This record gives sequence, structure tokens and C-alpha cells, in this order.
Amino acid sequence: RDVDLRGKRVLLRVDYNVQVSDGRIVDDLRLVESLPTIRALRDAGACTVIISHRGRPKGVTPELTNAPVAHHLTQLLGLPVQTASDCVGPEIEAQTRAMQPGDILMLENVRFHDEEEENDEAFSLALSRLGDVYVNDAFGTAHRAHASTVGVTKHLPAYAGLLMEREVDYLSRVTENPDRPFGIVLGGSKVSDKIGILENLVANADVICI
Ligand code: 3PG
Repeated sequence: RDVDLRGKRVLLRVDYNVQVSDGRIVDDLRLVESLPTIRALRDAGACTVIISHRGRPKGVTPELTNAPVAHHLTQLLGLPVQTASDCVGPEIEAQTRAMQPGDILMLENVRFHDEEEENDEAFSLALSRLGDVYVNDAFGTAHRAHASTVGVTKHLPAYAGLLMEREVDYLSRVTENPDRPFGIVLGGSKVSDKIGILENLVANADVICI
């Protein structure tokens, strides 16, 4: 909403860290929730370059390719989603520069490069060459100081996406001024990562179910 995006390449960081079984997405909620942002970028005439990680690969890991995600996104949007063989480099940059307003391109898993999690400066710069504007809609990854969430913002004008806005609005409301009684149901597979969140919420909640 805050910037004229017509003809601009928007590097859109999403969190499509989803499980794939037999080539199919097990739960597509993360994709569905990102659709309003993608549609808004398209309506604004942007060329949307989507960047995401999947899993915790050590180098290129074929089972963790973003290809099935791009395929599923094509079906959800009813629009073609192009794919790229990597997420940095001159060929990928040329692919982004050949895009037309409204086009959507999905880059390959950004964690195939160790430099992503190292928040490497040169890698951040290489990512920034794929966009004119950066939009972060990856709320589920926003606690990681990686190249595609933090490093890249040094090199491009950076904005929050519509999903990020929704998540922050909602969380701010429930943490600052919740309706009572305030109960929390906390799930997910990586409980160790959530201790900090629990410590933060325990002072405020009436009941927490884990
Ligand atoms: C998630 O699914 O929790 C996020 O995508 C972050 O993934 P990570 O814990 O591997 O950084």
C-alpha cells in the first residue's frame, strides 16, 4: 500500500516451510494465507519474485526443492508460477529482469546455500539483485536473522506484507490487551524454539495448553 510497485520487481519473502509427501503438500495453510499479498502485488503491477526456505538442508537436497510448492501455488492462484533453478546468480537475475508486470517467479530453496543462515553479506547483496523492493511476509521465519530476512534489507527498501501485518496486529492485540479469560493453545514440533514465547506470555495468560 505504501509504494508504487508498477513494473517493479518485488522480492517477496514467504514462509513456505511445508511438509511434502509423495510430491503433495501435506498442509497448505501457509500458502493460502499468503495469497492476499501475492494478489495485491499482482494487482499493483509488480513482478513478484518469491523466496522461501524448506526444511534445514545441508547443501542442495532434492527432497527439499521448492518445485512442489510452486506447482501447488499455481493451482491455488489459477495462474502460472514460474520456477528458477537457484535463488542467486546472473542467470536468475536475468530471469527476474525478463519478467512482465503480473508475472510470478518462485526461486529455489534459499537454504540450499549455507550463507543464508550465516546472514552472509555477499549473499545478501546477491539476493538483493533479484528485486527493486523487498517485502517480508514470512512471519514464521521473522525470528531468524538470516540473509533473506535481515541481510537483504540493508540493500533494498523493505516493507511488511499483508500477512505480516495481520499476524502482528493480532498478536499485539492479544498480548497487550486481551479479552479475559485469556487462554493460549500452543502447538508445533519445535517446542525448544518456543520457550522464549512461553516465558513472555506466561505473565499475561490465564491458562496455557501445550
Ligand atoms: C518454521 O516452520 O517454524 C519456520 O519456517 C522456521 O523454520 P526453522 O525453525 O527451520 O528456522
